[in-house]
Amino acid sequence: MTPVVRLESGPLKDDGIIPTGTFKARGMAVAVSKAEDLGLAKLAVQSAGNAGAALACYAALGGLAARVFMPTETPQSILECAWYGAEVILVDGNIGDAGARMRTKMDGYFDMSTLKEPYRLEGKKTMGYEIAEQTGFELPEAIVYPTGGGTGLLGMWKAFDELENLGLIGSERPTMFSVQSEACAPIVDAFSPGKETPDADFPDGVTAAVGLRVPRPFAGRQMLSVLRESKGGAVSVSDPEILAGMRALAGEGVLACPEGAASLAAHRKLLREGNIAKDEKVLLYNTGTGQVPRPRPASP
Ligand SMILES: Cc1ncc(COP(=O)(O)O)c(C=O)c1O
Repeated sequence: MTPVVRLESGPLKDDGIIPTGTFKARGMAVAVSKAEDLGLAKLAVQSAGNAGAALACYAALGGLAARVFMPTETPQSILECAWYGAEVILVDGNIGDAGARMRTKMDGYFDMSTLKEPYRLEGKKTMGYEIAEQTGFELPEAIVYPTGGGTGLLGMWKAFDELENLGLIGSERPTMFSVQSEACAPIVDAFSPGKETPDADFPDGVTAAVGLRVPRPFAGRQMLSVLRESKGGAVSVSDPEILAGMRALAGEGVLACPEGAASLAAHRKLLREGNIAKDEKVLLYNTGTGQVPRPRPASP
């Protein structure tokens, strides 16, 4: 259970305190446990960094082998993976390029990548369960949440459906706002013109929010469908806005990751443009910590 911190900008659910520093551990804790249960011994993932570190951590706990393919731009996670004993394979490019490389080198490893195996999503549902519990089962009117591959968004949505089936909440849902970086915003690009899926050849773009650098999300269709069903939307923010968001959150005692700070920047934009009203009950989501590792030996 991560806290909902009351900030001047509104309540912020802070996943920065989670093991391995990001909400990716929610999914991998469950997925690796299930993989072990099902007799898998070797797990591989393509990752912008944080999912790789989470896989490496839980694989280490379960005594399973982990192989992580990640872009060269994620030095912090590379070290984390190495300390957990995972094999790291660096790839020039984005997470999609890392995935393409992975598929040429499976060697009996099981593919744990976003929404290609079912249990990471089950772990991400805890985000929705916790939000419901922390709001006394009266969900916020809107949730502003950073999205790359979309597991968090889809996980929360699934959790809300389950809670309704259990009779714990009604049929009302928060409007879900997907936050992306202006440098790489395939969901924003597809949302307004009403496209069913993001462009298959959407161009890559580099951003400080590396977890949002997913130009061709595997589950783009499902993400767009959740946003529309919730009557929410998709919004992009620039890197300077993301960094200003980090500074603002730090000023209120939360050292957030750029992806999480993008939520704050997006909320400001949604207010400015009248897509969220000032008196609306909004929950912002910080998906990870902005803490940099303390000095330690350069390699395990
Ligand atoms: C810190 C952080 N926030 C948000 C995201 C986006 O999450 P998702 O891919 O589940 O949409 C990522 C993905 O790597 C991330 O690392």
